[in-house]
Amino acid sequence: MSELATAVATVQARDFKLITATPLTGSFAALIDGIQVADAITDDELFSELRQAWLDYQLLFFRDQQLTPEQHLALGARFGEIQKQGYAPSLKGFEGVWVQEYPDLFDGLVSDIHWHADSSFRAQPTRGSLLYALDVPVAGGDTVWADMCAAYEDLSPAWRTFLDGLTAVHDNMTRNLKNSLERLSAEEFAQVRKYLPPTEHPVVCTHPETGRRFLFVSEFMTREIIGMSERESRTVLEFLFAHQTRPEYQCRLNWAPRSLALWDNFSTLHRGIFDFGRSHRLMHRVSFNTAWSA
Ligand code: SIN
Repeated sequence: MSELATAVATVQARDFKLITATPLTGSFAALIDGIQVADAITDDELFSELRQAWLDYQLLFFRDQQLTPEQHLALGARFGEIQKQGYAPSLKGFEGVWVQEYPDLFDGLVSDIHWHADSSFRAQPTRGSLLYALDVPVAGGDTVWADMCAAYEDLSPAWRTFLDGLTAVHDNMTRNLKNSLERLSAEEFAQVRKYLPPTEHPVVCTHPETGRRFLFVSEFMTREIIGMSERESRTVLEFLFAHQTRPEYQCRLNWAPRSLALWDNFSTLHRGIFDFGRSHRLMHRVSFNTAWSA
């Protein structure tokens, strides 16, 4: 049996006491239905089962959720400390509920977003996020996640040993440089660099709660591997970028109004599929932090 087949075989449907998790791929991700997640704000047992499912499956998807901005924040706060600032503006009166509204966002901050883990360029990357759809295009506008535990576990022992000792530089400007230089004055650019300097993380990290090892590099944020020539670093990273986003490790979610996704931002990558032209797409997002230890 191949390494991948072993990893895949660990994902199964699971009945908790209050929720049922139905796997969405052979690798990770589960659909949870029959509940309103907002109830987990006050129901400790429901929250504890959801939290466990989130750790087990790394990505949870819910349909037909009623979630006000207050509830969205309250739910996020059960998982960690709300991340007040993000790449999208907050909803008026609800700091930390980021409004991702397209096509407006295309005209400002978002240009060409590749695979990434949110805020991996910070010393403390985002722990997880709750993305809630309010209005979606008739077609398109899916989001895709990739399982970085499976991507690591599927590597040969030789590759895993090689990667285990490496450290990479994560930089918000890795793919954003041209866009930022065009959009920002020299003074604004210098301020962004000062506020968001590059940071270093191990290429392979250990999940602080599950203990699983996962790949922590991404095409959007990872600039180079420390201690290698530019050519060596590029070669290794290009292999990893291609490897970590193979379809075997992916889960693609198709949104409907009131769908909600909750993901583990340490052990997954994601990217929005911006294939919907100038159609309207409105998402609310709450991200949260907990201590990071690689
Ligand atoms: C992102 O967080 O990169 C965008 C996700 C999305 O809007 O689908």
